[in-house]
Amino acid sequence: MKTETTIQGLTASLSPARGARKMIGFVPTMGNLHQGHLNLVREARKLCDVVVVSIFVNPIQFGPNEDFENYPRTLVQDSQMLAEVGCDILFAPTVEQMYGTQPRLTNISVSGITNDLCGASREGHFDGVAVVVTKLFNMVQPNYAFFGEKDYQQLAVIRQLVQDLNIPLEVIGVPIARAEDGLALSSRNGYLTEQQRALAPNIYSSLKQAEQALQQGQALAEVLQQIKLNLTQVGFDVDYVAARSLKLVPVESFNQDTQLFVAAKLGTTRLIDNVFVKYTG
Ligand code: PAF
Repeated sequence: MKTETTIQGLTASLSPARGARKMIGFVPTMGNLHQGHLNLVREARKLCDVVVVSIFVNPIQFGPNEDFENYPRTLVQDSQMLAEVGCDILFAPTVEQMYGTQPRLTNISVSGITNDLCGASREGHFDGVAVVVTKLFNMVQPNYAFFGEKDYQQLAVIRQLVQDLNIPLEVIGVPIARAEDGLALSSRNGYLTEQQRALAPNIYSSLKQAEQALQQGQALAEVLQQIKLNLTQVGFDVDYVAARSLKLVPVESFNQDTQLFVAAKLGTTRLIDNVFVKYTG
């Protein structure tokens, strides 16, 4: 595996693959890799000749009171894991390499779907994601890009961005990787104390209970209220519990395939998760 820290180096490393019209797969990450990230790389490996992974903690997608400074940076371990799973090129640029030294005057804003869910409480977050992902797409020019479904809203934003701006690649969503107790894998799980870690799987178990309740005919509003109650009772500070169509349109009742979403904090750690609920009529 080659590691590149500059755009020039990345371009040079990719040039033979581009010349030979090889399929390039790209997995953008912020590092501190877990099995969820590695699954993205495995999927890329299956579909592509050359797999590029980026590790870049993107300052512009963090709010002023968020965890940019403390975000875990574990490049040595990450790099070892990536080599083992078959990554060909690791791109790990500095902030200066990504953003230069001159002020950035261009923003990329996907409207509508970004005002809801995480966008409602993380102002500017999705603009920051859209900008960095577009820049990375331009640098790597992949045929396929892989994103986890844990960040369901992010995946929808990126699909929209790619469609609206005619970015010539296909976006592939990869299912959520979970710990044995159901907790969705996330780099932020590492912030949890032992006690909080023991409580964290309640998010997934509440979502799964909700799935069952909906399929047994319980009203959607009641089911959402029950998730909130379960989580609040064990000590979560709930940001939102929501039901949306697969395209993120709000749904009032369970009359179609539905995605249930939770964002909730344990202490200062914000966790998100979602489940798909099949509508069988
Ligand atoms: O999901 C992430 O890790 C980040 O939001 C991404 C897509 C790498 C952009 O910084």
